[in-house]
Amino acid sequence: MKPTLDYVKFIAREAGEILQSFIGKDLDVQHKSPTDLVTKADHASEQYLIDTIRKSFPDHMINAEEAGQLVGATEHQWFIDPLDGTLNYAHGVPMYSVSLAYAYQGEIVMGVVLDPARDECFSAEKGQGAFLNDAPMQVSGFENLVDCMLVTGFPNNMWDSPDDNTINFTHFSKQAQTVRRLGSAALDMAYTAAGRLDGYWETGIHNWDVAAGGLLIREAGGVVTDYYGKDDFLRDPITVVGANPTIHARMLEVLAEVREKQQRA
Ligand code: IPD
Repeated sequence: MKPTLDYVKFIAREAGEILQSFIGKDLDVQHKSPTDLVTKADHASEQYLIDTIRKSFPDHMINAEEAGQLVGATEHQWFIDPLDGTLNYAHGVPMYSVSLAYAYQGEIVMGVVLDPARDECFSAEKGQGAFLNDAPMQVSGFENLVDCMLVTGFPNNMWDSPDDNTINFTHFSKQAQTVRRLGSAALDMAYTAAGRLDGYWETGIHNWDVAAGGLLIREAGGVVTDYYGKDDFLRDPITVVGANPTIHARMLEVLAEVREKQQRA
């Protein structure tokens, strides 16, 4: 059995309330690495989501940030980030979200990104459009990078990884109006779907961070692919680019130019 979008929105809101209930309390911050944290709130939100989905849909497969892959029928898959933007949350910066996506027969068909600090719920169902709370969302209509506010993030292992995104960051910063780093990939994509931001790219990220956001951008009229223009951007190693069709094409060109430059060096 498939869930309804109302169900996905409801459990995202409940998880968001769990996150809010931990604010000001001892978060028991643990380091997965020097730059990657996990808190009591991540665990509580994830436990709620897993228990609730398991109760309603015992045969569904679940991919969750902290618990990993929980067995189930591959026909029904969930991608759960119980707290996207943990570093922001742990520092008291109100820029974090709950990200939930549901895939039927391998295709993401529902996505919800919930920002509990602003009570903003970004949602989409395949073929039904994308919404911010109850209002339809659309990607922005800019055609030139110079008009665009882009957004990106950096991999958690950037201290040790040669693919640390700094070269792309430099190139886009010199061609776009500006580039932001907000700290929650799911919100970066939700804001791109809402036309607040004009384009998003990132690598070294996980499927639970970007599965819901990808559907939001597509249903808001945008294009989402990997760095090479392939639609299936959820395959490891993940690279993602999302924007309106014109800016998306331009962003792919910039990423290719950077790759060529690096190969020549
Ligand atoms: C992180 C955020 C961030 C991105 C990192 C992610 P987390 O997710 O989405 O924007 O740049 O790569 O790991 O760890 O806070 O769920």
